[in-house]
Amino acid sequence: MSILLENVNKFFNTPPTQVLTDITCDIKLGEFVSLVGRSGSGKSTLLYIMSSLDTATSGSIKIAGDEISTFSQKKLHQFRNEHMGFVFQFHYLLPELTAEENILMPARKKGLHHKKRDYAHHLLEEFQIKHKFDRLPKQLSGGEQQRVSIARALIMEPSYLFTDEPTGNLDSANGEIVMTIFKKLNLEKKTTIVMVTHDPDFANIATRQIYLSDGKIT
Ligand SMILES: Nc1ncnc2c1ncn2[C@@H]1O[C@H](COP(=O)(O)OP(=O)(O)O)[C@@H](O)[C@H]1O
Ligand SMILES: [Mg+2]
Repeated sequence: MSILLENVNKFFNTPPTQVLTDITCDIKLGEFVSLVGRSGSGKSTLLYIMSSLDTATSGSIKIAGDEISTFSQKKLHQFRNEHMGFVFQFHYLLPELTAEENILMPARKKGLHHKKRDYAHHLLEEFQIKHKFDRLPKQLSGGEQQRVSIARALIMEPSYLFTDEPTGNLDSANGEIVMTIFKKLNLEKKTTIVMVTHDPDFANIATRQIYLSDGKIT
């Protein structure tokens, strides 16, 4: 189930710009890769393309040997829901749902929310927010909200976790907590992690760094 990108290019039309140039890289199962580079170098664009949230202008992206451009929208949605978790800089929790309900959202889509309830509480406990399971997002701190969003990304036990500046909104103590969670997840559950970050200390936690400069791997 490794991800293989070959000669991937990405253009945006307005204004006309080439954001990624001839990207070839391979994310192997069980790796923890950080994507680093200056602001505007194309890190987020590359993360979204390799995780199928965005499409390339040209080139090939294969997951477990299958070209993802051949997947139907339905198959792609299903694949993402079952195998991929996403954590962004902003948590995007639903404000009217409790922590527990937010975490169970991906399971609810598949009718698995009853089955996954114990696992949701296991994650809450592991992330030290078990006693806050019935709080709304606004009743949680920024660090706690981000841990809820990580638990939501993990509820389906994905093979891949893609994350874009996950500590961008957090103070250093909460940033450390998030990194400890990712490190443990990669070591113990062998979850493949691809993380965009511009923090060199956090990038170093990964087992490999991919450095982008002006849309090229250097
Ligand atoms: N939807 C878009 N339309 C046009 N240009 C975009 C779009 N998204 C990103 N860009 C441009 O592509 C370049 C790379 O963006 P991005 O991948 O977000 O970089 P990074 O995450 O490294 O900061 C930037 O110059 C940005 O302005
Ligand atoms: Mg970015």
